[in-house]
Amino acid sequence: MCGIIGISSNKPVSGNIINSLKKLEYRGYDSAGIATLFEGEIKEVKSEGRVDSLEQNFDLKNLKGNIGIGHVRWATHGVPNSVNAHPHSSHNVSVVHNGIIENSTILKKYLISKGHNFKSQTDTEVIVHLITENLKTSELEIAITKTLEQLHGSFALGIVFKEMPDLIVGARRGSPLAVGYGPNENYLGSDSYALKAMTNKITYLEDGEFCLIKKNQVLFFNEDGKKINKKILELSSDEANYEKGDFKHFMAKEIEEQPVTIKTGIKEYIDRTNSDINIYNFPWKISEINSITLIGCGTAYHSCLMSKYWFEELTQLDVSIDIASEFRYRKNRFKKDTLYIFVSQSGETADTYAALDLCNKNNMKTCAVVNVIESSIARDANFILPIHCGPEIGVASTKAFLGQILILYILVLKLGSLRNEITKEIYQEKIKDLQSLPSLIEKSLLIDNDIQAISSTFNDAKGSMFLGRGFSYPIALEGALKLKELSYVHAEGYPAGEMKHGPLALIEDGMPVVVLAPRDSYYKKTISNMQEVIARGAKVLLITNKSKDEIFSENIWETIEVENTNDDLLPFLLTIPLQKLAYYSALKKGYDIDKPRNLAKSVTVE
Ligand code: AGP
Repeated sequence: MCGIIGISSNKPVSGNIINSLKKLEYRGYDSAGIATLFEGEIKEVKSEGRVDSLEQNFDLKNLKGNIGIGHVRWATHGVPNSVNAHPHSSHNVSVVHNGIIENSTILKKYLISKGHNFKSQTDTEVIVHLITENLKTSELEIAITKTLEQLHGSFALGIVFKEMPDLIVGARRGSPLAVGYGPNENYLGSDSYALKAMTNKITYLEDGEFCLIKKNQVLFFNEDGKKINKKILELSSDEANYEKGDFKHFMAKEIEEQPVTIKTGIKEYIDRTNSDINIYNFPWKISEINSITLIGCGTAYHSCLMSKYWFEELTQLDVSIDIASEFRYRKNRFKKDTLYIFVSQSGETADTYAALDLCNKNNMKTCAVVNVIESSIARDANFILPIHCGPEIGVASTKAFLGQILILYILVLKLGSLRNEITKEIYQEKIKDLQSLPSLIEKSLLIDNDIQAISSTFNDAKGSMFLGRGFSYPIALEGALKLKELSYVHAEGYPAGEMKHGPLALIEDGMPVVVLAPRDSYYKKTISNMQEVIARGAKVLLITNKSKDEIFSENIWETIEVENTNDDLLPFLLTIPLQKLAYYSALKKGYDIDKPRNLAKSVTVE
């Protein structure tokens, strides 16, 4: 949830730290700060708000020092202000932290009894004083090992020491942390995205490890303080992905990229010549899998729900889904013949990672459907199915959602075929239909003006409902989430058939209601649910697919028709107008579309 950067160099570092912090702002932007070491002193500057505020409040060009750490914060303990901003420093130690120290209250009491004074309300400041205290009696590596043992909870740390003017210490438990290698300088960062502007040579720390970074040397240690060797990865440079180009927002760019990203995903898995699906190195025999459990958060959870409908429609597999923050604390009955699938764009979501870790600890079969293949979830699952969408920067997930449901649909087809529950003819027909999906999405993206015109109605309303049945219900949930997280207006996704069991009482004159009613097997029932809300004054935006059949209903406020395709693939097309509806609603309100308030792109704390 926060972003960390550290640089140890043979030249001043403040400029590169600022640039990296700007790339990390997608992880949190409540406050920002930098600490450098110069002439034996810790120089610390920090302020509430974005990195721009830091630049406005301080003359960073004159922030000297060839070693430093920086931080962008999403507040967990302590309100977002300059006092609680990181770095936190004592007279001889400065720390930046991502994660939550669960025993900070007890440690704070102990440290106060040792004469330490605290300035902030944060859990992080405890780390500063604890390592300061331990350095009084131990050499550096021992003091670090001892401090890490005393900390309960999750952390990614960057630490500098007044007495060691060219050293940065990095440590990881539960929150991602990477080391980068440059010419006459080396780096520490929350993820490869922060480091990519300076290097594509990266090493990831695993839980329990720490490292000592100097400008010309990096040493790694395991949790026992024993020196270890680690691999250096060479990451692909995909700079274009990190720029908006001609688009006003990353979200707009990522919505428009979907025909390409879906085409890439299809190419990665579909063998057109043999009309087959290639999932290489699947580590289990099909006979070993009789049930599936899918786990994710937010949009990724909606992907899980979407795939449940496909699994049930096309295979005989038992399928359950769960929200990761629920699963990780549930009294789970782990089963050897269940495949546990973890869906995550970032691959760093703390709750999803914790659920994966729980399954790994129970020796379950684990598979990750992720976008960031260097992520913790990708690295720790037994098997990974990348979604190949390229970096998704907008906090509101768009292309990654479509990528997730595409890969899950492909997995459904493959498993159904291998279990002989989908005939060869149907299997090949569905693979053929998939080939047309990119162009169908392209056509659906052209529905633009109508949506711009109607989006303000949703902004002005007290709240709105998004209704769907069957395959459309997960999309209704996703559409409501998009509007909530971008326009800050209440929107509720609901099963259309459930309205009369209570929520119908919400419907009042002029209330906007989105009804997803493609001409699939649920169509007629959904249309009658639509008439129930119209009869009570709702302004219905009907989203259906093109057809020569008339829609038998009056007083529909607006209708949007997406392209026609087989029922399995309609959810992909229904999603497009809902993404645009949320985008234009937020645009009209003038909100920060790529960084909505209170949110972050990767929720790396629980
Ligand atoms: C989606 O628009 C949200 N930003 C959020 O719900 C997100 O899907 C969720 O936090 C899960 O993130 P992940 O896919 O990176 O695990």
